[in-house]
Amino acid sequence: MNPIIEKIQAALTMAGRRAEQAADAAELEALRIEIFGRKGLFPALSKEMSTVPPEERKAVGQAFNEAKSEFQNFFEAAENRLAGCATTGIEPPDLTLPGRKWSSGRKHPIAAMIDDCVAIFRRMGFIVASGPEVEDVYHNFDALNTPADHPSRDPGDTFYFPDGRLLRTQTSPVQIRVMESQEPPVRIVAPGRCFRRDTPDATHSMNFHQIEGLSIDRNVSMADLKSVLQTFAWEMFGKGVKIRLRPHFFPFTEPSVEYDFSCIICGGKGCSVCKQSGYLEIAGAGMVDPNVLRNVGYDPEIWSGYAFGMGIERLTMMRYRINDIRLLYENDVRFLEQF
Ligand code: DAH
Repeated sequence: MNPIIEKIQAALTMAGRRAEQAADAAELEALRIEIFGRKGLFPALSKEMSTVPPEERKAVGQAFNEAKSEFQNFFEAAENRLAGCATTGIEPPDLTLPGRKWSSGRKHPIAAMIDDCVAIFRRMGFIVASGPEVEDVYHNFDALNTPADHPSRDPGDTFYFPDGRLLRTQTSPVQIRVMESQEPPVRIVAPGRCFRRDTPDATHSMNFHQIEGLSIDRNVSMADLKSVLQTFAWEMFGKGVKIRLRPHFFPFTEPSVEYDFSCIICGGKGCSVCKQSGYLEIAGAGMVDPNVLRNVGYDPEIWSGYAFGMGIERLTMMRYRINDIRLLYENDVRFLEQF
């Protein structure tokens, strides 16, 4: 073996040991100078290269290069060790950095509200029904006993297709579709999307959600309706909530009521949210009009029932104290992340 290679190997063994034992950065630096410095081992050995016979030059050159990177490894390992880390060469973790956040999917507040409503009504014996969002005039208006000149039919309020069909303005047509397809008794809730030609503002959206309820049986009374609505209010907002029914008019119910929950913000004392009234409007309800029963072929002398419809957005905004309905549709993650 060429004597230069021997010298290189001896130097490697020495440097490896000393690097491993170096007590501080200064000691390591001294070693580096001993090997790579201007008067160090490496420059001295490379001067001897001129004495190497041509046929051995390649091997010696290779030994040089290998040794160089080997030395670097020794230094690096020693530096890491001195920096408080094992000789793995891996940077020590910075325990002061904030952890990595994994974002997981979650329900949109409207979807969560629909699911919660459905769960409450299922416990009261309702099953879930659905109907098309593109409806015909018959199911959305006529069969629901809505007079031909009722303002809600106006193209300024309802989206019509050129073929005369429309985007349903309420979930009530699901009542008709369910009764057309089955014999009584009926006990369903139908959550879903509705559409109205409203100008969007803090409380209006062209696209919103309702949940419809319908119960048809023998001897159903207003007391049954009231107890279902009261139970829903308790389950949704807690035992402290009172409900109030006020006379109203809907074409498909007689008598009709609007119902309110006592304000969940102030507990009924009166505040800015309930405009000092102590109550918040929730939706409409009533006893199903005999004309509606006749339209689906049910005998109103035998069958009676109640229906109700609630705005999902309204409930969602109450529950989370959201003051602008548009926030629910912007899909801004800074908003959605809060739920
Ligand atoms: N469909 C009505 C609306 O959109 C709400 C409603 C009122 C539904 C009374 C009902 C009901 O089932 O009985 O304003």
